[in-house]
Amino acid sequence: MIAHRIVTLTLNPALDLATGVPRLCPNDKLRCSAPVYAPGGGGINVARALRRLGGEALALFPVGGSTGEHLVELLEAEGVACEAVPVAGWTRECINLTNQADGQQYRFVLPGSPLSDAEQTGLLAALEALPVPEFLVISGSLPEGLAAGFLARLLRSAQQRGSRCVVDSSGSALREALDCGGLALIKPNLEELAALVGHPIAGPEQLARVAWDLLAEGRCEAVLVSLGPQGALLVTPHVCERIPAPTVPRRSTVGAGDSLVAAMLLKLAAGADWREAARYGVAAGTAAIMVEGSELCRREDTERLYGWLNGTPAPLP
Ligand SMILES: Nc1ncnc2c1ncn2[C@@H]1O[C@H](COP(=O)(O)OP(=O)(O)OP(=O)(O)O)[C@@H](O)[C@H]1O
Ligand SMILES: [Mg+2]
Repeated sequence: MIAHRIVTLTLNPALDLATGVPRLCPNDKLRCSAPVYAPGGGGINVARALRRLGGEALALFPVGGSTGEHLVELLEAEGVACEAVPVAGWTRECINLTNQADGQQYRFVLPGSPLSDAEQTGLLAALEALPVPEFLVISGSLPEGLAAGFLARLLRSAQQRGSRCVVDSSGSALREALDCGGLALIKPNLEELAALVGHPIAGPEQLARVAWDLLAEGRCEAVLVSLGPQGALLVTPHVCERIPAPTVPRRSTVGAGDSLVAAMLLKLAAGADWREAARYGVAAGTAAIMVEGSELCRREDTERLYGWLNGTPAPLP
């Protein structure tokens, strides 16, 4: 079995279907353009973005039904290594609909099929059967009905085996991961961090304080708060730095967060420090918004933006 240094875990994978209608209006039949399918789900996209950046990762996820088979085929066609664990429920489909009259996108996110207790245990066993990765990335939403404490069990198991855990999720999943503690990195956006602490975050000082508190409590080694067009704030015990996002033509923000996480992982796995990794991450996040639809960051755009960021001092907001 090939040992992968980075394993991504996606508990709620999706088969994304993109289509368009000439004009979105109720009641009439809406004749859609030919569907374009793409793999979806946080960890899966992190693995895809890593591949686009010249790295590689193993994507671990539950898979069911013919939608699941289609998902695996698409990933294999992109050259992404997969560990797909069969489950009974069909892999969900999510629909991205473009109203061609005004270019607006409508994103329909369907719930994932619940995983039975035996399937949850099977996923944990699949993770434990892999050679120990240096990094385990848990990204994306969770399907409904996951056993309380399941995420903590996964994280503890990975940590006990010596993996560093990175979590990009929201709501109760982020809470549970932080309660577990000892994470390497979390990557919330501002909204996700505010929901975590239960109050709005006003200004850069309060933002840094919230991140510091998480570090001081031993919840994680580093926090990278992504700030959309404002870039990101990196907070570690030794660094508090805002990395600005270069101004670029904005085509689609889909996949920005996943591209950011992938780029950071690529650098961290290569031995870079947090600052270098965060800059490369912001470059990849911004590169992702330059491309249409659900396409993730391109390597050449990422390198160019990274060069720009390295030549430019980053002032605090
Ligand atoms: N309008 C923008 N202009 C430039 N860069 C952007 C823009 N929006 C996002 N980015 C880049 O993408 C990164 C991640 O974006 P964002 O903070 O929106 O993540 P997110 O909310 O996790 O996104 P996702 O919806 O993909 O989960 C930012 O740190 C930034 O580098
Ligand atoms: Mg995100």
